[in-house]
Amino acid sequence: MMISYVKEHYEKHLAKYYSWMSGGLAKKIEENRRFFKDQHVQPRGSGVAVDLGAGSGFQSIPLAELGFSVIAIDLSKNLLAELKKNAKGVPIEIVNDDLLNFPKHCPARIELVVCMGDTLTHLNTHQDIRHLLTMIYNALETGGRVILTFRDLTTELRGLDRFIPIRNDANTIFTCFLDYEKDYVKVHDIIYERKKTIGILKKVFLKKFAFFRNGQEKFY
Ligand SMILES: C[S@@+](CC[C@H](N)C(=O)[O-])C[C@H]1O[C@@H](n2cnc3c(N)ncnc32)[C@H](O)[C@@H]1O
Repeated sequence: MMISYVKEHYEKHLAKYYSWMSGGLAKKIEENRRFFKDQHVQPRGSGVAVDLGAGSGFQSIPLAELGFSVIAIDLSKNLLAELKKNAKGVPIEIVNDDLLNFPKHCPARIELVVCMGDTLTHLNTHQDIRHLLTMIYNALETGGRVILTFRDLTTELRGLDRFIPIRNDANTIFTCFLDYEKDYVKVHDIIYERKKTIGILKKVFLKKFAFFRNGQEKFY
C-alpha cells in the first residue's frame, strides 16, 4: 500500500468520519487516559513523547495532559487540524509527515513512542515495520518505552462474520467488510449517508491494510 494511497484515503474519505466512527473524541481520550494510568505511563526522563499516526489526538491529548511534550506525526492534514482544535492549550507539536521520517522531527532523547489504534497495519511492507522498530529502538533513551497496539487479524473470519458494524446514527451507517488475502487483509469501508431530501446515498471504497497473516510475524 503506497503512502500516497493511505494519505488520499484519509483525506478524501475517512478523516471526516474517523472520530465519530471510533466512538467520539471524548470517549477515546477518556479510554486512553485510563489505559496510560493502568500502564503507569508518566514522564520520568526527558518527558518527550512521540505519537506516530496521531490522527485526531486520541493518545496525544492524554499524554500532553500527563505532562509529556508530545510530537504528533500524521499524514492527514484534516485529522491534525482536528487534533489542533481539540488540544486546547496542552503542549503538542504537530508534524504533517510520513511516520517513517519521525527521527528528523525529534530531539536526541525520547522517553516514549506510541503507535496505537492500528496505525502499524497501514505500513507498506514487513521491511518498513522492521525498519520502524529499529529506528524506535535507536531513538529511545535508557528506560524509554514503546507502546504498539493493533488488531489481531491472524484468525480468518468467515461468511457473515466478515461484515463488522462499526457505528450508525440517524444519518450514517458505517460498516467494514474484511477480505482475507494470503499475506494481508483488505478492509472495505462501506458507508451509507442520508442526504437532506434524496434518501440514502451509498458510498463504497476500498482500504487495504498490509497485515501479517503469517503467524510467525508478531510484533509487541
Ligand atoms: C487507524 S488511524 C489511528 C489514529 C489514532 N492513533 C487512533 O488510535 O485512533 C491511523 C492513522 O495513521 C495515519 N497514518 C497512516 N500511515 C501513516 C504514515 N505512513 N505516516 C504518518 N501517518 C500515517 C493515518 O493518517 C491515521 O491518522
